Amino acid sequence: MRDAAPNTVYLKDYKSFGYLVDQVHLTFDLSPNATRVTSRIAFSPNPETEDRSFFLHGEKLRLIRAAIDGTAVSPEITAEGLRVAAPDAPFVWEAEVEIDPANNTALEGLYMSNGMYCTQCEAEGFRKITYYPDRPDVMSTFTVRINGDLPVLLSNGNPVQRGEGWAEWHDPWPKPAYLFALVAGDLVAHSDSFTTISGKSVDLNLWVRPGDEHKCAFGMEALKKSMKWDEDTYGREYDLDVFNIVAVDDFNMGAMENKGLNIFNSSCVLASPDTSTDANFERIEAIIAHEYFHNWTGNRITCRDWFQLCLKEGLTVFRDSQFTSDMRSAPVKRITDVIDLRARQFPEDNGPLSHPVRPESFQEINNFYTATVYEKGAEVIGMLKRLVGDAAYAEALDLYFARHDGQACTIEDWLKVFEDVTGRDLSQFKRWYSQSGTPRLKVEEEFSEGTYTLTLTQHTDPTPGQPDKQPQVIPVAVGLLSPNGDEVVPTRVLEMTEGTQSFTFEGLAAKPVPSILRDFSAPVIVERETDTAERAFLLAHDTDPFHRWEAGRALARETLVEMATGDATPLPDYLDGIRTLLRDKSLDPAYRALMLGLPGQSELAGHLHEAGITPDPAAIWIAVEDLKQALARDLQDMLPDIYAEAQVDAPYAPDAEQSGKRALGAAALDLISRLDGGKQAAAQYEAADNMTLQLSALGCLLGAETGDAQLAAFYDQWKDDRLVIDKWFMLQIMKAKPDRAAAVAKALTEHPDFTWKTPNRFRAVFGALAGNHAGFHDSSGAGYDLLADWLIRLDPLNPQTTARMCTAFQTWKRYDAGRQEMIAAQLDRIAATPDLSRDAGEMISRIRG
Ligand code: ARG
Ligand code: ZN
Repeated sequence: MRDAAPNTVYLKDYKSFGYLVDQVHLTFDLSPNATRVTSRIAFSPNPETEDRSFFLHGEKLRLIRAAIDGTAVSPEITAEGLRVAAPDAPFVWEAEVEIDPANNTALEGLYMSNGMYCTQCEAEGFRKITYYPDRPDVMSTFTVRINGDLPVLLSNGNPVQRGEGWAEWHDPWPKPAYLFALVAGDLVAHSDSFTTISGKSVDLNLWVRPGDEHKCAFGMEALKKSMKWDEDTYGREYDLDVFNIVAVDDFNMGAMENKGLNIFNSSCVLASPDTSTDANFERIEAIIAHEYFHNWTGNRITCRDWFQLCLKEGLTVFRDSQFTSDMRSAPVKRITDVIDLRARQFPEDNGPLSHPVRPESFQEINNFYTATVYEKGAEVIGMLKRLVGDAAYAEALDLYFARHDGQACTIEDWLKVFEDVTGRDLSQFKRWYSQSGTPRLKVEEEFSEGTYTLTLTQHTDPTPGQPDKQPQVIPVAVGLLSPNGDEVVPTRVLEMTEGTQSFTFEGLAAKPVPSILRDFSAPVIVERETDTAERAFLLAHDTDPFHRWEAGRALARETLVEMATGDATPLPDYLDGIRTLLRDKSLDPAYRALMLGLPGQSELAGHLHEAGITPDPAAIWIAVEDLKQALARDLQDMLPDIYAEAQVDAPYAPDAEQSGKRALGAAALDLISRLDGGKQAAAQYEAADNMTLQLSALGCLLGAETGDAQLAAFYDQWKDDRLVIDKWFMLQIMKAKPDRAAAVAKALTEHPDFTWKTPNRFRAVFGALAGNHAGFHDSSGAGYDLLADWLIRLDPLNPQTTARMCTAFQTWKRYDAGRQEMIAAQLDRIAATPDLSRDAGEMISRIRG
């Protein structure tokens, strides 16, 4: 059994498949417990290899018959697939299998959600549908016939014919099996159309369950904007007659870019002002763009093997961030991306799960859909663009699309287009794909006789499997300010290639103040001996919006670290700086809201750990509460003004401008609630006509421990809306005091609405528990125990979601011996579970170390 003896797969072992697939013909006879899948597949020998061994992947399939060129064959069948002798000439493979979608709780392959059939094949789910060479470098055109007594029958490509109880689809674009999709059910469409740049009209449909029609308009607009943007920015036109999106409630991930038939977690596409927050809207817009952009970066050009996942994901995340920056505010997007990177990718890259952007081995590929592959992968592309410049980037992308359209590619192919366009040698740059860990950049400075010298030293700590690191190419965007606050040297990108390197700036009248790593030009940690006064100076004067925010962030962190490790009071420089910024109405409200934000408690714990101090989650929690209280008191006179300024008196729109105001309003309300015991929040809750205001008010009330009535009313109002009820579950746990969090979460697992087999609901509870840093790490260990119980319970049903939630334990080595012991015991308990999945098994053993 594969699960019992996990095989490690290595990048270096890549071999092409012995056959090409010329055509695939599939027929589905749908039935909840016994769906028949009949395949007719034309194979021909692959001229690139002599190896004619014929192995087809297949898992949990009941083979009914198989034939080669019409003659029945009896393959040798294992838990992973089948093997049979095949001709060294073109032939047709036929097979009939039976599968059980209704009992497919893993949500991989063909499964059912609320009576609807749907699929998720990336990465290796197609093998649960029929026998096939389920690897991304095997590409073919698909024709699909669906027989089923359901009103809507969808697959990839263009519709061919439709009859009573059946439909036929044809996808003319060769694709790997992971992009296959099928949907069948009682769905309604929100329809529109888009005319492409060359004048072709495309039918657009967003398919949802009856009752969700009113949540479609925003997603559809986002889709049209994405289609237009990809034409304008990358010259990419859509290539089918129809584009379908389907919303499904049971989904392991966010969404999936199946050719012409994107499937979305309903939480990532359905939106209405009364049920979705501004943050939901923004995320939905970005995910719709992301999946749509995959049509070129992922589908037309795909990955040779799963080690190359970042080829499509890093690039597509980079493209969707560009899109969001263009649609909204570029500085705000950059800052929120960095907050997210530090919250999710840095802990991964600096802990037991650290792996390169292009991993070199895995047991279960689903465990590598990570922040490193996606978000660091996107940062790597951002660095490349910064190094070669915008024009060369555009030229390289044109060449990439022209040269590799229709191919399954590697990172080598990707870098080669940049080398060909620029004449640069990118072999050192390539280390960003192979070396794991976050580089640290030490900064030293010197000034004499008008010459300012910056000496940068890079260092990356050892990571699992990589004891020694080589220097990487690091683009460091730097600007210099004169002591009076003027910018004397505008942003310049220093290209660092050595372990230690000096850069000089001449002709300066006085020692400047450097602004280093502007726009977060590289995913590194800057280590610089600096003082509070200089940070305050940059907070006041830096012209780079990212770095100005960064200066404030550093001050907040410094003050919180002092407060969490002694009985310090908040730094006056920090309070003064924030006060000045908040008052500055020339600054975007969204930006001011970000300035009021504090570093996350887990981030602070990581920071302390790196400084050689064992973090105490309870002390960190108290420090944050105390700082907020101090901010509230200090800003008391101006908070009502800011709150008033943040009110929107136009009809609700989830655009950047209104969202920014509401974000500032929420930040102000959070502080106000610490002074008025929740009076203002209660008023906002009463008056709220949209979910953003309603939820931020409820959060403040729960924080002030006065929200019981509103919490109950909220449930009553929204009990029939599963996406809002997810928020109801989540918020209570997030806002629970540390010593109560596990108990609150536990009580919620006993609530009749805790439909734990639906990943969204499971994540609402346990994602919130893991996200309540002090609550999860409460010294009782109750949080650890509860999470482990439920991971053990979910694993046999849904290994993928289980494995993902195991990451809550990844930072365990930061904490004190007592907590480490408790977590180790939980990890061992999970590891000892009989028949633990390969997914969870791999994660637990890597985390345990
Ligand atoms: N390709 C999808 C996306 O980035 C993610 C699918 C991941 N699925 C999985 N089972 N790991 O949008
Ligand atoms: Zn993606």
